[in-house]
Amino acid sequence: MKRIKIEGGHKLSGTINISGAKNSAVALIPAAILCDEEVVIDNIPNISDVDALQEILEYLEADIKREESRITIDASHIVNKEIPESIAKKLRASYYFMSSILGKYKYVEMYFPGGCAIGARPIDQTLKGYRALGAKVIEENNKFTISADELVGGHVYLDMPSVGATINTILVAVRAKGETVIENAAREPEIVNIATFLNSMGAKITGAGTSTIYIEGVEYLGKAFTEVIPDRIETGTYIIVGALMGDNLTINNVIPEHVDSLIQKLKEAGCDMKVDESSVTISQINGGRAINVKTLGYPGFPTDLQQPLSTLLTQLEGESVLEETIYENRFKNVPYLNDMGANITIDDKKIHVIGPTKLTGKVVNATDLRAGACLVLAGLKAEGETIIENVEHVLRGYENIIGKLSAVGAKIELEEYNEVA
Ligand code: EPU
Repeated sequence: MKRIKIEGGHKLSGTINISGAKNSAVALIPAAILCDEEVVIDNIPNISDVDALQEILEYLEADIKREESRITIDASHIVNKEIPESIAKKLRASYYFMSSILGKYKYVEMYFPGGCAIGARPIDQTLKGYRALGAKVIEENNKFTISADELVGGHVYLDMPSVGATINTILVAVRAKGETVIENAAREPEIVNIATFLNSMGAKITGAGTSTIYIEGVEYLGKAFTEVIPDRIETGTYIIVGALMGDNLTINNVIPEHVDSLIQKLKEAGCDMKVDESSVTISQINGGRAINVKTLGYPGFPTDLQQPLSTLLTQLEGESVLEETIYENRFKNVPYLNDMGANITIDDKKIHVIGPTKLTGKVVNATDLRAGACLVLAGLKAEGETIIENVEHVLRGYENIIGKLSAVGAKIELEEYNEVA
């Protein structure tokens, strides 16, 4: 197992370059299945979630070449076979394969996907999309068998703007006969990235980035190239690092508009930052004021940044209230922050953070990806040594986090350890 050891309290300056977005890459790679020719995707982050998707492609016998941040995939001759549970459960995004295989071959067998344990995470809206396009879904012992004689465009109203259900419905609709309309679609930038990629293959998708998406099915999808957009959650995480420990820390290769909700909240708290076309430069907040934050779908404040933000809230003067509206169980970081000296109470879907409080290094546990990020941030701020165990979760989503933070002055190391029974 792996753990991160941090000696806290060091000011950070220099430049951190942001990698390609995990939540785009994990949908772009399965989307390659739909293509009848070779696709090239650039700016792929080097994270273990991408390795897991590559494993699925290899299992399906696609031709893959991965060189640095570029992946070339020829999935035109894959073998459509059941994707085993052991692979499917490695990550949430494995179910994008379920959709792209169904979209191309009209038959797929796959197990329920995995993902961070942050709430129930049902897939009913995805299944609703499949059914609206004429597919028959059989669910038995955690396994889905989905088939259709013909996929025909349909009207899908999503009960909530689910990122996964929006992408899954697009993937199934691009080769269906006729027009599909998705209403109450998610508007995340990752969805625009996927639609642009599919359109470059010859798909006809309009409205991505708005609440209504139209997809006119096509019969053939050809050679395509795309670039993964910068990761807005990695961007936001390092901006918060800057607010905690920065001394003119520059976060580079970013699309500031994608993290505007965070930038506005940090300004409200009293953070001084310089926002340029593709970078943000930020220094440690001085005498920051408490803020209230509520997570929402894009362009609202992202749920994926609320845990990292909670570390900063411990340093603001007064009582901050942070409300999580997307997941039921995304406060597993809180007991560890409290152990390090924070004053946080959980009240159903809200946390109340009273600050400022001094943080002290402790041995803590990364229960999920963003909880792990929160604790890395706390470790950078804390006095003394923090050890974050179980950081495989963190490595799933943050490319070279140790190298990036070390390069700007953090004292941080990754080490192997054996769990004591
Ligand atoms: N939901 C349903 N039914 C569905 C789908 C979703 O009830 O069929 C609910 C979920 O339970 C949740 C909410 O709707 O309460 C939002 O879920 P959504 O489908 O939008 O999330 P997702 O597609 O499973 C992606 C990201 C998450 C990110 C969310 C929200 C990927 C692989 N994952 O998940 O990323 O939190 O969108 O923005 O794209 C992370 O990176 O740490 C992460 C968890």
